[in-house]
Amino acid sequence: MLIPNVPRNVLPTKGPAVAAKPVAPVPGRRPGPGRLVVLVSGSGTNLQAMLDSIAEAGAAAYGAEIVAVGADRDGIEGLARAERAGVPTFVCRVRDHATREEWDAALAEAVAGYEPDLVVSAGFMKIVGKRFLARFGGRFVNTHPALLPSFPGAHGVRDALAYGVRVTGCTVHFVDDGVDTGPIIAQGVVEVRDEDHEDDGAALHERIKEVERRLLVDVVGRLARNGYRIEGRKVVIQ
Ligand code: GRF
Repeated sequence: MLIPNVPRNVLPTKGPAVAAKPVAPVPGRRPGPGRLVVLVSGSGTNLQAMLDSIAEAGAAAYGAEIVAVGADRDGIEGLARAERAGVPTFVCRVRDHATREEWDAALAEAVAGYEPDLVVSAGFMKIVGKRFLARFGGRFVNTHPALLPSFPGAHGVRDALAYGVRVTGCTVHFVDDGVDTGPIIAQGVVEVRDEDHEDDGAALHERIKEVERRLLVDVVGRLARNGYRIEGRKVVIQ
């Protein structure tokens, strides 16, 4: 099936047709709960924590609802979690596009079709490009499993462990055009145990994710309920 205004390789896997509509370039609240699009690449436990918290509190009390979940690959538990919760999903794969720039533009278009107030990268393992940031800069939130600015990149847990730190943690931040360099919103701390060196950081990552899930749920809710402004590197939640 072809869906109007959407490139063929960005078809929603479930839910309503996405129509490309312009989105406001600055954070702005409309009446009612904020609209969240969550991007995932893997197991989606951070997504699940958000789904559960919103279901428990109610979207109005939480301040936001998840209107779609997007991924850069098929067949992942993150998408299955969204489908079980009845949330529309879409997949936008790099390999279906001629260039990385085309993928970036297609991802931006797919996300924009859901008119989000905030976009949340919850274990989304791709760096977005200029087109995506032109549309969602200042309202694209990422969670990273290390205490930034230390240990950015795809192996934050392993790199922190290899460095020999005694505490590490997670960082929720806005995304800019660097790798994990955007303004920090909140951080959580986790102690490193001696035995963490024995499993290459697997248990440490699980302990970080316990903190990360609570932090992400809390931060996104506060951003959505209260509004915020970004002053240079400082994020002020109103
Ligand atoms: C999180 O630790 C996130 O910071 C990292 O990947 C993990 C995703 O976990 N980028 P999940 O898919 O939410 O379970």
